[in-house]
Amino acid sequence: MSESKPHFPSIREEKEYKLVRLLAEGGMGAVYEAKQFGAEGFEKTVALKTILESYSSNMEFVRLFIGEAKLVADLVHEHIVQVYHLGRTDEFYYIAMEYVEGLNLEKFIDHHVEHQLDVPVDLGAYIISRVCRGLEYAHKKRGHDGEVLGIVHRDVSPKNVMITIEGVVKLTDFGIAKARQVMEQEEGEVLMGKVEYMSPEQAQYLETDLRSDVFALGIVMYELLTGHHIFETDDIYETLNNVKRKPIPDPRTFRSDLPEGLVKILMKALERDLDTRYQTAGEMAFDLEYFMYHDRYGPTLVTLSNYIKEHLLGQVADGHDLQREPASQRKVSKETTSTIQHRADTMFGDLLDPSKSGKGE
Ligand SMILES: Nc1ncnc2c1ncn2[C@@H]1O[C@H](COP(=O)(O)OP(=O)(O)OP(=O)(O)O)[C@@H](O)[C@H]1O
Ligand SMILES: [Mg+2]
Repeated sequence: MSESKPHFPSIREEKEYKLVRLLAEGGMGAVYEAKQFGAEGFEKTVALKTILESYSSNMEFVRLFIGEAKLVADLVHEHIVQVYHLGRTDEFYYIAMEYVEGLNLEKFIDHHVEHQLDVPVDLGAYIISRVCRGLEYAHKKRGHDGEVLGIVHRDVSPKNVMITIEGVVKLTDFGIAKARQVMEQEEGEVLMGKVEYMSPEQAQYLETDLRSDVFALGIVMYELLTGHHIFETDDIYETLNNVKRKPIPDPRTFRSDLPEGLVKILMKALERDLDTRYQTAGEMAFDLEYFMYHDRYGPTLVTLSNYIKEHLLGQVADGHDLQREPASQRKVSKETTSTIQHRADTMFGDLLDPSKSGKGE
């Protein structure tokens, strides 16, 4: 019997969203909390970003915007805000995406600056390490043909990093910066809006690759840990100039308790020389994770969730978390380490041994 190719029909259905409340007005339009409706009273909360009519009617913008949206459509990762749908009404384009109940990193930083508080060192490292993992995934993402898609975020900034109440860190707005650049150049501005989070190569109109995102994340990390922005001034040209050549001050001049190991990671992300900077977000993630976990029970999403609830939302922190124990009790004992190692060897022995896994890299 010859095998016939299975035929799967298409399903056509109009989507319906109801805007529930305005969350924020952003650079390109507004962001709403919305409800998506399905059959028999099914409802799902989503975030809906509408693209301003002035953008939606610009052909070049739309071309790039759609191209990038298609590229990032299949990014599905814990540390990335998932896009569900790109739609169009008569007047504008919109993006339906995962609704994040929480706050953005800009608010998180502002809170600390306003109250003259330092972000706990471990928590700062944790947040940045999560963004690194999201970036690493996107940078390595391959298309259906197996080729790396070459996704670069280009707009890594505190507003585009969100933290859920559950302590999950999520990077958003993949694929938007490239199209936006067209508009802002037309409007006569210099490059893109947020020049203070640019890499030096972006600021010089040079070609950028994934290492540009690493630099931008370095700027965010500096601000998160010290409350101080390295390059920002009131003047856009001066800020651009700073990005290109201002010597980067030792972060310990703003905060003396920063550990040497963490400062090294931060300064490596902020290397202007592309060859000495971290070559991938994954390398940076590894160094941060080693810093947080190699000799102690480091922070988890529960730590972050408890912290946000307690310090920013005025709620009761309710997650069990070893990080809240005194530091002296947090250290992982030698015996525990060797037990974990033994368990890992037993469970993953074959995988860890290249001669048995068949990979032998
Ligand atoms: N998926 C989401 N869920 C909940 N809130 C969101 C979501 N996406 C964005 N927001 C909120 O809306 C704000 C505005 O987002 P928007 O991306 O439009 O502008 P922006 O991030 O301020 O600037 P930019 O245009 O440069 O990205 C964000 O800062 C965030 O607080
Ligand atoms: Mg944004």
